[in-house]
Amino acid sequence: MKRLAVLVSGGGSNLQALLDAIEGGGLPGAAIVLVLADRDCPALGRARASGIPTALVDRVKYVRNSDIFSDELLRRIDGASPVDLVVLAGFLSILKGAILGRFEDRIINVHPSLIPAFSGDGCWGIHVHERALASGVKVTGATVHLVDGVTDGGRILLQEAVPVLEGDSPASLQARVLEVEHRLVVQAARLFTESEE
Ligand code: GRF
Repeated sequence: MKRLAVLVSGGGSNLQALLDAIEGGGLPGAAIVLVLADRDCPALGRARASGIPTALVDRVKYVRNSDIFSDELLRRIDGASPVDLVVLAGFLSILKGAILGRFEDRIINVHPSLIPAFSGDGCWGIHVHERALASGVKVTGATVHLVDGVTDGGRILLQEAVPVLEGDSPASLQARVLEVEHRLVVQAARLFTESEE
């Protein structure tokens, strides 16, 4: 059984996609053993509804995106040890320091654009789609990538294109991209949970 820790900051729809996949047999051999948030958020409620242990390490109690903050996240993940894969599902803080080494090539993040487009500092949540619309692109999409020390910088694992339609608002574009994110995050998790080791 591969054990997943899922890090969240928001609505938790990507977490829900993972929960539904496990429930529906779409992610065999996987179990979510911890949902860890950096702020109080609806995603924690989704975890509790599924009986999954949760933890909250409030980012405002730490120097923003500091090593000490990441070390506390790592301590909580170690509390659910062993953890085979860390999934950043709508997680908005930046990981630094020891956690990156401990989970090298075992932390994945879903980002709502075709990285490197509309990625990096300041490109998160709805702002990604505002920038895509402002730039006039006809195609955007979603990416799942490995997490290293660079924001949205790790090796790309999966991508899927999403058309930008006439009259799209940031919200309508986000909703269309989110549907793809939900499929890709499950597909990416499967890359790890179905591997033999
Ligand atoms: C999504 O746009 C996701 O790409 C971004 O955070 C937003 C909310 O995700 N990382 P979720 O509903 O909390 O999973």
